[in-house]
Amino acid sequence: MIIAANWKMNLGQAEGAILIQGLNMHADRWSDISIVICPPAPYLLAMRDIAHSEFHIGGQTCHGKLFGAHTGHVSAAMLADCGADYVIIGHSERRQSDGESGSVLLEQAKCAIDAGLRIIYCVGETLEDRQAGRESEVVSGQLADIQDLLNSGDVPVIAYEPVWAIGTGQVASVPDIEAMHNFIKSETSRIMGASDMPQILYGGSVKPDNAEAILSIRSVDGALIGGASLDADGFATICDYAQKVSR
Ligand code: 13P
Repeated sequence: MIIAANWKMNLGQAEGAILIQGLNMHADRWSDISIVICPPAPYLLAMRDIAHSEFHIGGQTCHGKLFGAHTGHVSAAMLADCGADYVIIGHSERRQSDGESGSVLLEQAKCAIDAGLRIIYCVGETLEDRQAGRESEVVSGQLADIQDLLNSGDVPVIAYEPVWAIGTGQVASVPDIEAMHNFIKSETSRIMGASDMPQILYGGSVKPDNAEAILSIRSVDGALIGGASLDADGFATICDYAQKVSR
């Protein structure tokens, strides 16, 4: 099971360090799960330096080219150089506000693989899509965008993050999460064959008070957490549940 923290554009370096130190002291309790911490890019190196050696560090995005004249961007190789071993690709906040299309995301994903990073590829429908009953179609299209990658045998982690549940306090129901995760498993096994199934995380208002119910769903392999990952005690509680259901 993977529990990933997406800090987004939150916390200063000192606050991030305090948060990580708060988690470090519990790390020995979480021997059966993978913890991935995705701080803002300028803090990757500092957070890698202080994080427990069992914790993974991840980027929140990377550029779709390996290097070059791309002012303000960060390449996958640079993330790896700072000690990252994961990167989030296709978060809905980047799809929406930075206009990242499927073809852009595929380029990013390929660069990430070339740099030796493990991808957490985000999919998920908007409220409008769900109300129109289009959620499977949307997610299927987002998976098709990285079909080349899936065909090549590189197995990403997939995060199902319904856009309407992100940062809203609204959580998808247990049957809806189960149905979508099963759908994603069947789509990816159709594309890749059943040999290497991706792990599928749920993201969208995961909190200490709903984490046990969500993580207990059989098709849920972990969580990608925004707001609740900014609080050491709350995040630790979620990790404890993950450890409990992983046993
Ligand atoms: P919240 O947990 O704040 O809803 O954010 C989820 C998310 O976007 C993680 O990538």
